[in-house]
Amino acid sequence: MFPKINPTKTKAWQKLTQHFEEINDVEMQDLFASEKGRTEHFSIQWNDFQLDYSKNRITSETLQLLLELADEVKLREAIEAQFSGEKINETENRAVLHTALRDFKNLKPEIKATLSQMEHFSEAIISGKWKGYTGKSITDVVNIGIGGSDLGPAMVTEALSFYKNHLKVHYISNIDGDHVMETLKQLDRETTLFIIVSKTFTTQETLTNAQTVRKWFLEQAQETAIAKHFVAVSTNLDAVSNFGISEDNTFTMWNWVGGRFSLWSAVGLSTCCAIGYKNFEQLLKGANEMDIHFKEAPFSENIPVVLALLSVWYNNFFQAETEAVLPYSQYLSKFVDYLQQAVMESNGKSVDRNGDFVDYQTGTIVWGSTGTNAQHAFFQLIHQGTKLIPCDFIAFEESLFGNEEHQRKLLANFHAQTDALLMGTRETEVDNNFKAFSGNRPSNSLFIKKLTPQTLGALIAIYEHKLFVQGVIWNIYSYDQWGVELGKKMANQRLQL
Ligand code: F6P
Repeated sequence: MFPKINPTKTKAWQKLTQHFEEINDVEMQDLFASEKGRTEHFSIQWNDFQLDYSKNRITSETLQLLLELADEVKLREAIEAQFSGEKINETENRAVLHTALRDFKNLKPEIKATLSQMEHFSEAIISGKWKGYTGKSITDVVNIGIGGSDLGPAMVTEALSFYKNHLKVHYISNIDGDHVMETLKQLDRETTLFIIVSKTFTTQETLTNAQTVRKWFLEQAQETAIAKHFVAVSTNLDAVSNFGISEDNTFTMWNWVGGRFSLWSAVGLSTCCAIGYKNFEQLLKGANEMDIHFKEAPFSENIPVVLALLSVWYNNFFQAETEAVLPYSQYLSKFVDYLQQAVMESNGKSVDRNGDFVDYQTGTIVWGSTGTNAQHAFFQLIHQGTKLIPCDFIAFEESLFGNEEHQRKLLANFHAQTDALLMGTRETEVDNNFKAFSGNRPSNSLFIKKLTPQTLGALIAIYEHKLFVQGVIWNIYSYDQWGVELGKKMANQRLQL
């Protein structure tokens, strides 16, 4: 059963409220000075991942109380309900099973069939066996989709550039016609494959963009050529067929996969073409390993659970409004954009699972950018501003091209920033207040051995599970998104004026 418990009515919440009064004045610098082994104590090692969460405004008691909160809101039952396929997305009457897409030990036949279709298709495109209407091989792949049908694949394709083949992959999302034309002007009709990705196949942006692209294509090619240049990914097979795409060129997805969790499905076809099926499978396997960790590890050693509890601690007790995600890897330059949809579309809710308005804070605002670029942009505010901004620093220990000098400097910056946020200038002489840093500013450090399809899969899954845990605690439905509907309706009404 999916629980429906108001977190603020739990004993743990009352205790946390009291405990917060004690902790609020405690400085982490003092905690580090008085607790030998604090870093080891507040660290989790899992496969190629290490989470150091010692630089948070917590003590062992805080963690204990947060774990009690997880128990009282029945997090274990909620996880079980999700993985067992219960219809936990009650407002849409749907199960939530993106994790089934990567569960290779128990793959459902329909998932297996789609993976196999993706494998054969991507191999034909990559090898050049698939020919365009004039007999030439494909050189460019264009994903036409928006939201979850764009952000996930675009982020992963960018993040795994190192593993990419010769194909050039483009993403058209915005209904802004200039965005479409800027992409089309780089393309040759004879060698371009368009993948129209829309779970519903009713999204205004995607359908408009797809029609524009189709018209552009037919300026030179015949209708019969469509079959060699257009494929679609959707749950709405009738709408795909009405668009003129044959069954052979259609990849199915299912309504138990939410758009923002769909990069693991055929929605990831552009990524699969870019990095090849084997790498795509590794991405899925990495995510599946994290799913197992999430399901099985005790909460105190569970990376997504601990990250979620810390985030709730800051959001609901310190009243922090935002959190920054700072990957020290340019490959992850689209990670925050992707996370913004995943986290904010999921947890931006004000009605609880009983249908009542909440009287406590829910969804955090996620923002950020890559280090070291961000250091020269907005770190000033994180270090000396008036707001408390918990940060997730993410780094890979090894660089992919092996440039030691750059890697040493990149990691030195990573460590220096988390140290500076912690220590401030409390132990250093400064000549005036302008140069003073308070320190005591929280951060998590997530170290990953190396960026591979597998570790990327696990990293994304950490954040998927983290947001789910937060939704469970806040007693909201993380898997619907009614908040996007009103604006869509009003835009359509305006278009009819
Ligand atoms: O409007 C929001 C949304 O429904 C997202 O949840 C989704 O990822 C996006 O639009 C695109 O939807 P579709 O894949 O159905 O075109």
